[in-house]
Amino acid sequence: MTQINVITLFPEMIENATQYGLLGQCLRNQLLSVTTLNPRTFTSDVHKTVDDRPFGGGDGMVMLAEPLKKAVLDLRAKDQLGRLVYLSPQGRAWNNQRAEEFSKERKITLVCGRYGGVDQRWINWSGAEEVSIGDYVLNGGELGALVMIESLSRFLPGALGHDQSAHHDSFHLGVLEEPQFTRPRDFEGEVAPEILFGGHHAKIQDWKASVRLLVTLAKRPDLMTSQVTPEQKRKAAGIFLLMTSAEKAVLGLSHLSEEEVLKWKA
Ligand code: ADE
Repeated sequence: MTQINVITLFPEMIENATQYGLLGQCLRNQLLSVTTLNPRTFTSDVHKTVDDRPFGGGDGMVMLAEPLKKAVLDLRAKDQLGRLVYLSPQGRAWNNQRAEEFSKERKITLVCGRYGGVDQRWINWSGAEEVSIGDYVLNGGELGALVMIESLSRFLPGALGHDQSAHHDSFHLGVLEEPQFTRPRDFEGEVAPEILFGGHHAKIQDWKASVRLLVTLAKRPDLMTSQVTPEQKRKAAGIFLLMTSAEKAVLGLSHLSEEEVLKWKA
């Protein structure tokens, strides 16, 4: 079982948001355990102070190093600390590949800052690695911790049920997922692709693999990696050239030019 500790001034944010859907199931099935620690419980003054004004002035408050240090020492004493992360916009970018890597850890501790951040000396003292979930600033690390927990939970063996796997998710092989369709066959005049109704399982799988490449080229060309073989590209180009404009439209490929795809045929 993977153990994740979250050090946060708002434990309810973590406890509540982890109850739902597949993540909630992971917790109930004990694939994953999430516990919270509030730095406020590691203060020694009557006001339970966890922050103070920044030296040299400036906006906002800074979280005190001492309560965070005590929280870390508490976990360390119980041999529960594991890989220590501080959520920060200055951190290394989070992505699905890192989610998979973190899913292999036995113990992880995520530290959430609030206000204007934490005293730099706590970061230095703890040696925490900094992780950012994107180039924007949140009010605290909690949403980032939740993003990390949910995305890594998808890689835990058994988390998604037997025939599902995070290895089929978008990004996994450097490509996006194919569009999905269900009832009705015709929605507002848009008809789901014909091939999906033919019952040729192998043919459908092949077609989906090509559509994934085409969708990636159309929406996120930056993701197209060398992991995609020339043979796969040629196949995808062949399928694209045979598509009707209605099929291209329903797959979101209307703006993909034949010229662009023809480069794959070469
Ligand atoms: N805390 C504030 N902003 C953040 C971000 N973008 N990523 C992770 N933690 C944060």
